[in-house]
Amino acid sequence: MVSRVIPVDPFDLVIFGGTGDLARRKILPGLFRRFCAGQMEEDSRIIGAARSDMDSEEYRHFVREAITEFDPKTKGECAHLDEFLTRLHYVTIDALGETGWAELAELTRSDKVRAFYFSVAPRLFGPLAERLHLHGMADGESRIVVEKPFGRDLESARALNKVLAEHFEENQIYRIDHYLGKETVQNLMAIRFGNMLFEPLWNSQYVDHIQITVAESVGVGGRGGYYDRAGAMRDMMQNHMMQLLCLIAMEPPAKFNPDAVRDEKLKVIRALDPVREEDIVRGQYEGTEDLLGYRREAENPESTTESFVALKAHVSNWRWANTPFYLRTGKRLRERASEIAIVFKDAPHSIFDEDAGRHRNILTIKLQPNEGIELGVTIKEPGPGGMRLIDVPLDMSFAEALGPEEADFPDAYERLIMDVIRGNQTLFMRGDEVEEAWAWTDPIIAQWEDDAVPPIRYATGSSGPDDALMLMHRDGRRWREIKA
Ligand code: NDP
Ligand code: BG6
Repeated sequence: MVSRVIPVDPFDLVIFGGTGDLARRKILPGLFRRFCAGQMEEDSRIIGAARSDMDSEEYRHFVREAITEFDPKTKGECAHLDEFLTRLHYVTIDALGETGWAELAELTRSDKVRAFYFSVAPRLFGPLAERLHLHGMADGESRIVVEKPFGRDLESARALNKVLAEHFEENQIYRIDHYLGKETVQNLMAIRFGNMLFEPLWNSQYVDHIQITVAESVGVGGRGGYYDRAGAMRDMMQNHMMQLLCLIAMEPPAKFNPDAVRDEKLKVIRALDPVREEDIVRGQYEGTEDLLGYRREAENPESTTESFVALKAHVSNWRWANTPFYLRTGKRLRERASEIAIVFKDAPHSIFDEDAGRHRNILTIKLQPNEGIELGVTIKEPGPGGMRLIDVPLDMSFAEALGPEEADFPDAYERLIMDVIRGNQTLFMRGDEVEEAWAWTDPIIAQWEDDAVPPIRYATGSSGPDDALMLMHRDGRRWREIKA
């Protein structure tokens, strides 16, 4: 069997915002797991950088606590934690001032791969790029990893692209969308382009419609400040949901290489029709006895920000003409369950009695929590009594099919950071892709702002507002149940 750990060259990874929430919860535990997997060469280093005044020893202590708290797999118990911590350094730095820059430049002077992860507030992305340039760290060997949100509309995304482009080439810029690092999301491409079975049917002639659901059971929690200025449309639809739609709808790229894949995704976004007002539903969750409602959680009693959005989209091209894509995402829904369902058309003619009922094949790609693929096929109900048809799933849970060890996939962040070190941009968004995605979402958001209509309230633990169900009922279709 092929080894799953493909070594990467020695690197220096600087995490701006190395003391922040994302670094503690995702980036540092992820790097630790890659270290345990043997993917970090001896002279690779991780350098935390933030304004907090501490030395490298104190930072190691900070990281030890973060890993112990947030690494669900090893809980920091990997025998190598002490060794991993020796790879860590810390520089006190101010993105907006001179503190720390000379020290960082000195520390990262080497022939190794050099990556700078911008895990800070978006207003600091531009200043960081500028200072890296000023201090001689923006040369051809450097890479920058830029967190989301990448702008809040087309104009701001363009401005950010422009600032970054002043100091870095496009092939040095890694715009993160962590959904692209999820195992099953990548599997989408393997399923489509690695099998002969599906691709001939992957078009409007055979597909009735497509449903993409990303449901979360949690609320906005401690991120209310950010979220209330974003909402589900900016937070999830413009990026994660859009990427899923692109991978489903795109034409086969000639090669699995960054620009070939991203060119095809871009064409999909450009082919999206504007969404009609009547084809969008926005919602906001209510509280329960135990859980705060959205407005209280976001600490904005008048908030009209949506925590749920459902819409019907059309990709206007030969492949998808008249095949609707129904997308929905929201917080505080019934369960944490995300899936893509390809619902095929009815057979053109039924040879069976009407009693046999109406049956459809559905290919479901389950993204989380239990990654897998399920294909619903129609068979005869076993036993005597004539020809009655039932649908049964051909179900492949990756954990069952591959065994727990093989199905113990790296977390999205781990995989994406290693891709940065390898210099592989396939799973990162290109500047033009991000701009086109904003160009599609901007008019929707502008319309909401003009209309000033508040979102529809929905109960915590529900499937979102009833109007979202109507969005499909109207077309004689229905959403699949939200279940893990
Ligand atoms: P936090 O507010 O938790 O952390 C911000 C970090 O930036 C801290 O380490 C802070 O440290 C540092 N910082 C602030 N000001 C400066 C400055 N002037 N110079 C240098 N460092 C500075 O944010 P998050 O970790 O939550 O988010 C970071 C980025 O990741 C954001 O862009 C966010 O949108 C994105 N993101 C976060 C997610 C999450 O779940 N947290 C999910 C998806 C994206 P100090 O105060 O010591 O300087
Ligand atoms: C983030 C959003 O990008 O993705 C969050 O900002 C959301 O609001 C999160 O909760 C969902 O990610 P995952 O991997 O838990 O589905």
